[in-house]
Amino acid sequence: MSDQQKKNAGEAAAAQIQNHTTIGLGSGSTVTYFLDALGRRILEERLDIRGVSSSEKTTRLAAERGIPLVTFSETASLDTAVDGADEISPSLALIKGGGASLLREKIVIEAARRVLIIADEAKAVSVLGSFPLPVEVVMFGWQQTKAKLEAEGLEPVLRQGENGPLVTDNDNYILDCRTGDVSDPAALHRRLKQLTGVVETGIFPDQADEAILGTPEGTSILQ
Ligand code: 5RP
Repeated sequence: MSDQQKKNAGEAAAAQIQNHTTIGLGSGSTVTYFLDALGRRILEERLDIRGVSSSEKTTRLAAERGIPLVTFSETASLDTAVDGADEISPSLALIKGGGASLLREKIVIEAARRVLIIADEAKAVSVLGSFPLPVEVVMFGWQQTKAKLEAEGLEPVLRQGENGPLVTDNDNYILDCRTGDVSDPAALHRRLKQLTGVVETGIFPDQADEAILGTPEGTSILQ
């Protein structure tokens, strides 16, 4: 059910992409459906679309689907970024980073003129904070950074991969934090960014322009 909803959202986003544009490609399972549909359109309609990838995994998936990729050395800005989310508030504040790609995702999203979020409808919440907040931290002294996050009352847990701590595409670690209800996402993001050792937080307070939510029947829009 939820996979069908992700597919509905991903396909609806791919249908909106205009020819001759450069697109920020997010990461995650919903984005994979978007890449499937975008790759098909590029092939069938012979579209001139280029992507900037937000993770090593997306780079691989895009290449497999025939989506041409460029980097920020070849393009200064993006027309649209399409990405998933772990939680979406009514004002379109987001928690992201469930797939550990939050830093590159934020760089890509901030380069885009329009940010389109795609997700199954269960990701829409009345207030952020049930999903553990991913915080990317440098490896060196991560225990010290963890202690600082603990002092903020956040109960950080070092994310594990297959063979020990998960290492991000940027050679950092992720600390997943219990926040409780986040009444002011921008303020929490600013507070955590000030801590030495924190590279980026998974709070995207005001970057999204629109969310396409997959439903069992199709999609609904959050603006
Ligand atoms: C990865 C992300 C993903 O976009 C987010 O976790 C949603 O993933 P999915 O579409 O698999 O539910 O932020 O860092």
